[in-house]
Amino acid sequence: MKTELILAVDLDDKDAAKSLLRPLCGKVAWAKLGLQLFTKYGPAIVDEFADLGFKIFLDLKLHDIPNTVASAIKSLRGRPCEMLTLHTLGGATMMKRALEAATDALPTTRLLGVTVLTSMDDNELAGIGVPRSPLEQVETLAKLAVAAGMKGLVCSPLELPRLRKFLGEEIALVTPGIRPKTAGIDDQSRVMTPAEAAAAGASFIVVGRPILKATDPAQAALAIEAELRSVN
Ligand code: C5P
Repeated sequence: MKTELILAVDLDDKDAAKSLLRPLCGKVAWAKLGLQLFTKYGPAIVDEFADLGFKIFLDLKLHDIPNTVASAIKSLRGRPCEMLTLHTLGGATMMKRALEAATDALPTTRLLGVTVLTSMDDNELAGIGVPRSPLEQVETLAKLAVAAGMKGLVCSPLELPRLRKFLGEEIALVTPGIRPKTAGIDDQSRVMTPAEAAAAGASFIVVGRPILKATDPAQAALAIEAELRSVN
């Protein structure tokens, strides 16, 4: 399976972000836009970055009652996003309604289910009434999502081997928490290198700061692509 690189555009000024991204066009295929840019500039930001030549992963992590999530997806009708996230914690009905809405309004978009946020550890889970380990909870939510018809999940790199074992190859696994050996780990605590994540079954790796903060971002992106190719 080929593992692809997604660049996380975690910048708060769109013009600065575009200047940084322009030289990466053709070197990195995917850009991840999150709430930071979406809530500041609105949905048209999706078209603006797609027009630069990137495939867009829209990371909105939708989570609400089924009708509201389905309506939000319909409001994205026609936006050029290839992947869109929602929380699996919204439940099976929410995911099914989201998939129906996407079939109608965003027929070429793959919906990805977020399982347990990596900011949640055992204590945080216990605090919200879930007396299980994050890995057990991730597995339950992953199974629920796939049974509801979801074709992709976001997970931590450490969960990849476990999930890949019971998920077919057609389920996309997207993972952040990636650090090349030459980069610092910033605030990520549990990380894998691009090659390790690819070997563990990642379909996509999400990388932000190791590229955005590099002295030569295009070179940093190319080095990650080369590392992926060496194991793909
Ligand atoms: O800069 P860095 O490579 O750490 O960026 C990783 C991206 O993945 C960021 O956009 C971050 O919000 C996102 N992310 C994460 N951990 C999660 C979910 C998303 O790092 N569990």
